[in-house]
Amino acid sequence: MINRIGILTGGGDCPGLNAVIRGLVKVGIGKYGWEMVGILDGFEGLMENRTIPLTLETIKGILPRGGTLLGTTNRCDPFEVPVALPDGRVERRDDSADAVGNFRRLGLDGLVATGGDGTLAIAHRLFGLGVPVVGIPKTIDNDLDATEITFGFMTAVETVTEAVDKLHTTAESHHRVMIVEVMGRDAGWIALYAGIAGGADVILIPEIPFHLDQVLRKIRAREEAGSKFSIVVIAEGTVLGEAKTYVDRDALTGIQRLGGVGEKLACVIRDRVDLEVRTTVLGHVQRGGGPIAFDRILATRMAAETAELIVGGQWDRMVAYRNGDIVSVPILEAIGRRKVVDPGSQIIAHARALGVSFGE
Ligand code: F6P
Repeated sequence: MINRIGILTGGGDCPGLNAVIRGLVKVGIGKYGWEMVGILDGFEGLMENRTIPLTLETIKGILPRGGTLLGTTNRCDPFEVPVALPDGRVERRDDSADAVGNFRRLGLDGLVATGGDGTLAIAHRLFGLGVPVVGIPKTIDNDLDATEITFGFMTAVETVTEAVDKLHTTAESHHRVMIVEVMGRDAGWIALYAGIAGGADVILIPEIPFHLDQVLRKIRAREEAGSKFSIVVIAEGTVLGEAKTYVDRDALTGIQRLGGVGEKLACVIRDRVDLEVRTTVLGHVQRGGGPIAFDRILATRMAAETAELIVGGQWDRMVAYRNGDIVSVPILEAIGRRKVVDPGSQIIAHARALGVSFGE
Protein backbone atom coordinates (compact mmCIF):
# COMPACT_ATOMS: atom_id res chain seq x y z
CA MET A 1 0.00 0.00 0.00
CA ILE A 2 1.47 3.33 -1.07
CA ASN A 3 0.89 6.34 1.20
CA ARG A 4 3.90 8.63 0.94
CA ILE A 5 6.18 9.31 -2.01
CA GLY A 6 9.35 11.39 -2.06
CA ILE A 7 10.71 13.18 -5.09
CA LEU A 8 14.09 14.75 -5.71
CA THR A 9 15.84 16.42 -8.62
CA GLY A 10 19.58 15.74 -9.01
CA GLY A 11 22.42 16.73 -11.31
CA GLY A 12 22.40 19.84 -13.47
CA ASP A 13 18.99 21.48 -13.73
CA CYS A 14 17.07 21.75 -16.97
CA PRO A 15 13.81 23.22 -18.20
CA GLY A 16 10.93 20.86 -17.43
CA LEU A 17 11.86 19.78 -13.90
CA ASN A 18 9.08 21.84 -12.36
CA ALA A 19 6.66 20.36 -14.88
CA VAL A 20 7.68 16.89 -13.66
CA ILE A 21 7.22 17.84 -10.01
CA ARG A 22 3.82 19.35 -10.77
CA GLY A 23 2.73 16.33 -12.82
CA LEU A 24 3.70 13.84 -10.14
CA VAL A 25 2.09 15.83 -7.34
CA LYS A 26 -1.12 16.28 -9.32
CA VAL A 27 -1.44 12.58 -10.12
CA GLY A 28 -0.10 11.44 -6.74
CA ILE A 29 -2.51 13.55 -4.73
CA GLY A 30 -5.38 13.92 -7.19
CA LYS A 31 -5.63 10.38 -8.51
CA TYR A 32 -4.09 8.27 -5.75
CA GLY A 33 -4.37 10.33 -2.57
CA TRP A 34 -0.68 10.01 -1.69
CA GLU A 35 1.21 12.39 0.53
CA MET A 36 3.98 13.94 -1.49
CA VAL A 37 7.32 14.95 -0.01
CA GLY A 38 9.88 17.11 -1.82
CA ILE A 39 13.50 16.35 -0.98
CA LEU A 40 15.64 19.46 -1.33
CA ASP A 41 18.85 19.71 -3.35
CA GLY A 42 18.97 16.17 -4.67
CA PHE A 43 20.61 13.45 -2.60
CA GLU A 44 22.15 16.11 -0.38
CA GLY A 45 18.67 16.77 1.03
CA LEU A 46 18.14 13.07 1.62
CA MET A 47 21.44 12.84 3.48
CA GLU A 48 20.67 15.93 5.55
CA ASN A 49 16.96 15.31 6.03
CA ARG A 50 15.87 18.51 4.32
CA THR A 51 12.38 18.18 2.88
CA ILE A 52 9.20 20.14 2.19
CA PRO A 53 5.63 18.94 1.87
CA LEU A 54 4.41 19.13 -1.70
CA THR A 55 0.75 20.08 -1.96
CA LEU A 56 -1.53 21.25 -4.73
CA GLU A 57 -0.88 24.75 -3.38
CA THR A 58 2.94 24.39 -3.64
CA ILE A 59 2.83 23.53 -7.32
CA LYS A 60 0.53 26.32 -8.43
CA GLY A 61 1.93 28.18 -11.42
CA ILE A 62 5.17 26.19 -11.74
CA LEU A 63 4.48 24.46 -15.06
CA PRO A 64 6.11 27.16 -17.22
CA ARG A 65 8.91 27.96 -14.77
CA GLY A 66 12.52 26.96 -15.42
CA GLY A 67 14.82 25.39 -12.84
CA THR A 68 13.49 23.20 -10.04
CA LEU A 69 11.63 24.39 -6.98
CA LEU A 70 13.32 21.59 -5.04
CA GLY A 71 16.82 22.76 -5.85
CA THR A 72 19.51 20.42 -7.13
CA THR A 73 23.18 19.64 -6.94
CA ASN A 74 25.59 17.54 -8.95
CA ARG A 75 28.04 17.37 -6.06
CA CYS A 76 26.49 14.76 -3.79
CA ASP A 77 26.86 11.01 -4.14
CA PRO A 78 25.96 9.25 -0.84
CA PHE A 79 28.22 6.36 -1.86
CA GLU A 80 31.24 8.59 -2.43
CA VAL A 81 31.12 11.48 -0.02
CA PRO A 82 34.35 13.44 -0.41
CA VAL A 83 36.13 14.16 2.86
CA ALA A 84 39.07 16.57 2.81
CA LEU A 85 41.98 15.25 4.87
CA PRO A 86 44.33 17.58 6.80
CA ASP A 87 47.16 16.76 4.38
CA GLY A 88 45.10 18.06 1.46
CA ARG A 89 44.16 14.67 0.06
CA VAL A 90 40.50 13.80 -0.49
CA GLU A 91 39.07 10.54 0.77
CA ARG A 92 35.76 9.00 -0.41
CA ARG A 93 33.42 7.67 2.24
CA ASP A 94 30.32 5.51 1.78
CA ASP A 95 27.57 7.27 3.76
CA SER A 96 24.70 5.64 1.89
CA ALA A 97 23.37 4.16 5.15
CA ASP A 98 22.42 7.74 6.16
CA ALA A 99 20.39 8.13 2.98
CA VAL A 100 18.61 4.82 3.54
CA GLY A 101 18.03 5.64 7.24
CA ASN A 102 16.51 9.01 6.39
CA PHE A 103 14.33 7.50 3.70
CA ARG A 104 12.88 5.19 6.36
CA ARG A 105 12.58 7.93 8.99
CA LEU A 106 10.60 10.01 6.52
CA GLY A 107 8.13 7.14 6.27
CA LEU A 108 8.38 7.06 2.50
CA ASP A 109 7.03 4.16 0.44
CA GLY A 110 8.93 5.13 -2.67
CA LEU A 111 11.44 7.60 -4.06
CA VAL A 112 11.31 9.27 -7.46
CA ALA A 113 14.77 10.39 -8.61
CA THR A 114 14.81 12.79 -11.55
CA GLY A 115 18.22 13.22 -13.07
CA GLY A 116 20.90 12.22 -15.53
CA ASP A 117 23.13 9.16 -15.50
CA GLY A 118 24.82 10.14 -12.22
CA THR A 119 21.56 10.56 -10.31
CA LEU A 120 20.06 7.44 -11.84
CA ALA A 121 23.14 5.38 -10.97
CA ILE A 122 22.83 6.45 -7.33
CA ALA A 123 19.10 5.64 -7.37
CA HIS A 124 19.88 2.16 -8.70
CA ARG A 125 22.44 1.56 -5.96
CA LEU A 126 19.96 2.71 -3.31
CA PHE A 127 17.45 0.23 -4.70
CA GLY A 128 20.08 -2.42 -4.02
CA LEU A 129 19.95 -1.31 -0.37
CA GLY A 130 16.19 -1.71 -0.20
CA VAL A 131 14.94 1.72 -1.27
CA PRO A 132 12.09 1.42 -3.80
CA VAL A 133 13.02 3.89 -6.55
CA VAL A 134 11.69 5.02 -9.91
CA GLY A 135 13.82 7.14 -12.24
CA ILE A 136 12.86 10.01 -14.52
CA PRO A 137 15.54 10.97 -17.07
CA LYS A 138 16.56 14.57 -17.67
CA THR A 139 19.49 16.25 -19.36
CA ILE A 140 19.80 19.03 -21.88
CA ASP A 141 22.62 17.00 -23.45
CA ASN A 142 20.08 14.33 -24.56
CA ASP A 143 22.73 11.64 -24.16
CA LEU A 144 20.78 8.97 -22.26
CA ASP A 145 20.54 5.96 -24.50
CA ALA A 146 17.37 4.36 -23.12
CA THR A 147 15.11 7.24 -24.09
CA GLU A 148 14.79 8.79 -27.52
CA ILE A 149 14.67 12.23 -26.02
CA THR A 150 14.90 13.92 -22.63
CA PHE A 151 12.96 17.02 -21.64
CA GLY A 152 15.09 20.14 -21.51
CA PHE A 153 16.93 19.24 -24.69
CA MET A 154 14.53 20.87 -27.15
CA THR A 155 14.31 23.99 -24.99
CA ALA A 156 18.11 24.23 -25.00
CA VAL A 157 18.09 23.77 -28.79
CA GLU A 158 15.54 26.59 -29.05
CA THR A 159 17.73 28.88 -26.92
CA VAL A 160 20.85 28.15 -28.97
CA THR A 161 18.98 28.56 -32.25
CA GLU A 162 17.77 31.98 -31.17
CA ALA A 163 21.36 32.94 -30.27
CA VAL A 164 22.68 31.68 -33.62
CA ASP A 165 19.99 33.70 -35.43
CA LYS A 166 21.14 36.82 -33.61
CA LEU A 167 24.82 36.11 -34.24
CA HIS A 168 24.04 35.66 -37.93
CA THR A 169 22.97 39.26 -38.42
CA THR A 170 25.97 40.75 -36.66
CA ALA A 171 28.36 38.28 -38.35
CA GLU A 172 27.05 39.38 -41.72
CA SER A 173 27.27 43.11 -40.91
CA HIS A 174 30.86 42.90 -39.65
CA HIS A 175 32.09 40.19 -42.04
CA ARG A 176 33.15 37.96 -39.19
CA VAL A 177 33.50 34.34 -38.34
CA MET A 178 31.35 33.74 -35.29
CA ILE A 179 32.19 30.71 -33.21
CA VAL A 180 29.42 29.62 -30.85
CA GLU A 181 30.39 27.21 -28.07
CA VAL A 182 27.48 25.19 -26.75
CA MET A 183 27.03 22.52 -24.08
CA GLY A 184 27.54 18.83 -24.75
CA ARG A 185 30.19 16.99 -22.77
CA ASP A 186 30.27 13.76 -24.73
CA ALA A 187 27.47 14.17 -27.21
CA GLY A 188 26.95 16.84 -29.84
CA TRP A 189 23.16 16.78 -29.98
CA ILE A 190 22.63 20.43 -29.05
CA ALA A 191 25.29 21.61 -31.51
CA LEU A 192 23.86 19.39 -34.26
CA TYR A 193 20.20 20.31 -33.82
CA ALA A 194 20.71 24.02 -33.16
CA GLY A 195 23.36 24.18 -35.87
CA ILE A 196 20.92 22.83 -38.43
CA ALA A 197 18.04 24.95 -37.12
CA GLY A 198 20.18 28.09 -37.11
CA GLY A 199 21.76 27.46 -40.51
CA ALA A 200 25.34 27.07 -39.24
CA ASP A 201 28.06 26.63 -41.84
CA VAL A 202 30.29 24.45 -39.69
CA ILE A 203 29.18 22.12 -36.87
CA LEU A 204 31.87 20.52 -34.72
CA ILE A 205 30.90 17.74 -32.31
CA PRO A 206 32.78 15.24 -30.13
CA GLU A 207 31.64 12.30 -32.25
CA ILE A 208 33.25 13.52 -35.49
CA PRO A 209 37.00 14.25 -35.30
CA PHE A 210 37.66 17.32 -37.40
CA HIS A 211 40.55 18.69 -39.41
CA LEU A 212 41.33 22.36 -39.13
CA ASP A 213 42.07 22.58 -42.86
CA GLN A 214 38.54 21.48 -43.68
CA VAL A 215 37.05 24.14 -41.42
CA LEU A 216 39.27 26.77 -43.06
CA ARG A 217 38.37 25.47 -46.50
CA LYS A 218 34.67 25.95 -45.78
CA ILE A 219 35.11 29.48 -44.45
CA ARG A 220 37.30 30.48 -47.41
CA ALA A 221 34.95 28.90 -49.93
CA ARG A 222 32.06 30.90 -48.51
CA GLU A 223 34.12 34.07 -48.67
CA GLU A 224 35.07 33.42 -52.28
CA ALA A 225 31.44 32.83 -53.12
CA GLY A 226 30.55 36.24 -51.67
CA SER A 227 29.43 35.29 -48.14
CA LYS A 228 31.98 37.16 -46.09
CA PHE A 229 30.93 35.62 -42.80
CA SER A 230 30.54 32.18 -41.31
CA ILE A 231 28.85 30.62 -38.31
CA VAL A 232 30.67 27.79 -36.54
CA VAL A 233 28.80 25.91 -33.80
CA ILE A 234 31.08 23.82 -31.61
CA ALA A 235 30.14 21.51 -28.74
CA GLU A 236 32.18 22.08 -25.59
CA GLY A 237 33.34 18.44 -25.56
CA THR A 238 34.85 18.56 -29.06
CA VAL A 239 38.51 17.61 -29.06
CA LEU A 240 40.89 20.18 -30.51
CA GLY A 241 44.49 19.08 -30.22
CA GLU A 242 45.24 16.34 -27.73
CA ALA A 243 42.20 16.35 -25.47
CA LYS A 244 38.99 18.08 -24.45
CA THR A 245 39.36 21.63 -23.13
CA TYR A 246 38.78 22.07 -19.41
CA VAL A 247 38.33 25.23 -17.36
CA ASP A 248 39.07 23.63 -14.00
CA ARG A 249 38.56 20.62 -11.77
CA ASP A 250 36.44 20.67 -8.62
CA ALA A 251 38.85 19.94 -5.77
CA LEU A 252 36.35 17.91 -3.74
CA THR A 253 34.39 15.98 -6.36
CA GLY A 254 37.12 15.77 -8.98
CA ILE A 255 34.55 16.73 -11.65
CA GLN A 256 36.17 18.53 -14.56
CA ARG A 257 34.42 21.55 -15.98
CA LEU A 258 34.55 21.87 -19.75
CA GLY A 259 34.89 25.15 -21.55
CA GLY A 260 37.11 27.18 -23.82
CA VAL A 261 37.30 25.06 -26.95
CA GLY A 262 35.54 27.83 -28.92
CA GLU A 263 38.19 30.41 -28.09
CA LYS A 264 40.92 27.83 -28.65
CA LEU A 265 39.55 27.31 -32.15
CA ALA A 266 39.37 31.07 -32.67
CA CYS A 267 43.05 31.39 -31.74
CA VAL A 268 44.17 28.81 -34.26
CA ILE A 269 42.11 30.07 -37.18
CA ARG A 270 42.44 33.82 -36.54
CA ASP A 271 45.68 34.22 -38.48
CA ARG A 272 44.57 31.91 -41.24
CA VAL A 273 41.42 33.64 -42.46
CA ASP A 274 40.90 37.14 -43.83
CA LEU A 275 37.86 37.72 -41.65
CA GLU A 276 37.77 38.76 -38.01
CA VAL A 277 36.95 35.95 -35.62
CA ARG A 278 34.85 36.22 -32.45
CA THR A 279 33.68 33.64 -29.92
CA THR A 280 30.46 33.44 -27.93
CA VAL A 281 30.10 30.93 -25.10
CA LEU A 282 26.43 30.33 -24.37
CA GLY A 283 27.06 28.43 -21.13
CA HIS A 284 24.30 28.07 -18.57
CA VAL A 285 21.88 30.23 -20.54
CA GLN A 286 21.15 26.93 -22.27
CA ARG A 287 19.91 25.37 -19.06
CA GLY A 288 17.83 28.33 -17.96
CA GLY A 289 14.36 29.64 -18.68
CA GLY A 290 11.01 27.99 -18.98
CA PRO A 291 10.44 24.82 -21.00
CA ILE A 292 8.96 25.02 -24.50
CA ALA A 293 5.63 23.26 -25.05
CA PHE A 294 7.24 20.01 -26.24
CA ASP A 295 9.26 19.69 -23.02
CA ARG A 296 6.28 20.56 -20.82
CA ILE A 297 4.27 17.79 -22.44
CA LEU A 298 7.13 15.27 -22.27
CA ALA A 299 7.85 16.05 -18.61
CA THR A 300 4.17 15.93 -17.67
CA ARG A 301 3.61 12.59 -19.39
CA MET A 302 6.73 11.11 -17.82
CA ALA A 303 5.45 12.19 -14.40
CA ALA A 304 2.03 10.64 -15.01
CA GLU A 305 3.59 7.36 -16.13
CA THR A 306 5.92 7.36 -13.14
CA ALA A 307 2.87 7.28 -10.87
CA GLU A 308 1.65 4.19 -12.75
CA LEU A 309 5.01 2.47 -12.24
CA ILE A 310 4.76 3.18 -8.52
CA VAL A 311 1.22 1.77 -8.36
CA GLY A 312 2.37 -1.31 -10.24
CA GLY A 313 5.38 -1.80 -7.94
CA GLN A 314 7.69 -1.45 -10.95
CA TRP A 315 10.70 -0.33 -8.93
CA ASP A 316 14.23 0.21 -10.20
CA ARG A 317 12.80 1.26 -13.55
CA MET A 318 12.97 4.51 -15.45
CA VAL A 319 10.37 6.09 -17.69
CA ALA A 320 11.49 6.60 -21.28
CA TYR A 321 10.14 8.09 -24.50
CA ARG A 322 9.94 5.67 -27.39
CA ASN A 323 7.93 5.97 -30.61
CA GLY A 324 5.62 8.59 -29.18
CA ASP A 325 4.82 6.63 -26.01
CA ILE A 326 6.14 6.76 -22.48
CA VAL A 327 7.41 3.29 -21.61
CA SER A 328 9.71 2.04 -18.87
CA VAL A 329 13.12 0.37 -18.87
CA PRO A 330 15.36 -0.98 -16.11
CA ILE A 331 17.43 1.89 -14.68
CA LEU A 332 20.52 -0.21 -15.31
CA GLU A 333 19.77 -0.15 -19.02
CA ALA A 334 19.53 3.63 -18.94
CA ILE A 335 22.86 4.21 -17.25
CA GLY A 336 24.74 1.56 -19.14
CA ARG A 337 25.20 3.36 -22.43
CA ARG A 338 25.52 6.92 -23.61
CA LYS A 339 23.54 8.02 -26.66
CA VAL A 340 25.89 9.82 -28.99
CA VAL A 341 25.48 11.13 -32.51
CA ASP A 342 26.12 8.46 -35.12
CA PRO A 343 28.32 10.01 -37.83
CA GLY A 344 26.66 7.64 -40.31
CA SER A 345 23.11 8.67 -39.40
CA GLN A 346 20.54 10.18 -41.70
CA ILE A 347 20.47 13.56 -39.96
CA ILE A 348 24.22 13.97 -40.50
CA ALA A 349 23.79 12.99 -44.16
CA HIS A 350 21.01 15.54 -44.55
CA ALA A 351 23.16 18.28 -43.01
CA ARG A 352 26.08 17.34 -45.25
CA ALA A 353 23.76 17.43 -48.28
CA LEU A 354 22.92 21.03 -47.39
CA GLY A 355 26.59 21.89 -47.37
CA VAL A 356 27.18 21.93 -43.63
CA SER A 357 30.81 21.07 -42.87
CA PHE A 358 31.64 18.80 -39.97
CA GLY A 359 35.31 19.47 -40.57
CA GLU A 360 35.95 15.96 -41.89
O1 F6P B 1 25.27 17.57 -18.24
C1 F6P B 1 24.67 18.75 -18.53
C2 F6P B 1 25.65 19.89 -18.56
O2 F6P B 1 24.90 21.04 -18.87
C3 F6P B 1 26.82 19.71 -19.54
O3 F6P B 1 26.47 19.97 -20.86
C4 F6P B 1 27.82 20.66 -18.96
O4 F6P B 1 29.13 20.31 -19.32
C5 F6P B 1 27.61 20.52 -17.51
O5 F6P B 1 26.28 20.11 -17.32
C6 F6P B 1 27.87 21.78 -16.74
O6 F6P B 1 27.78 21.52 -15.39
P1 F6P B 1 27.87 22.63 -14.25
O7 F6P B 1 26.54 23.27 -14.16
O8 F6P B 1 28.21 21.87 -13.04
O9 F6P B 1 28.92 23.62 -14.67
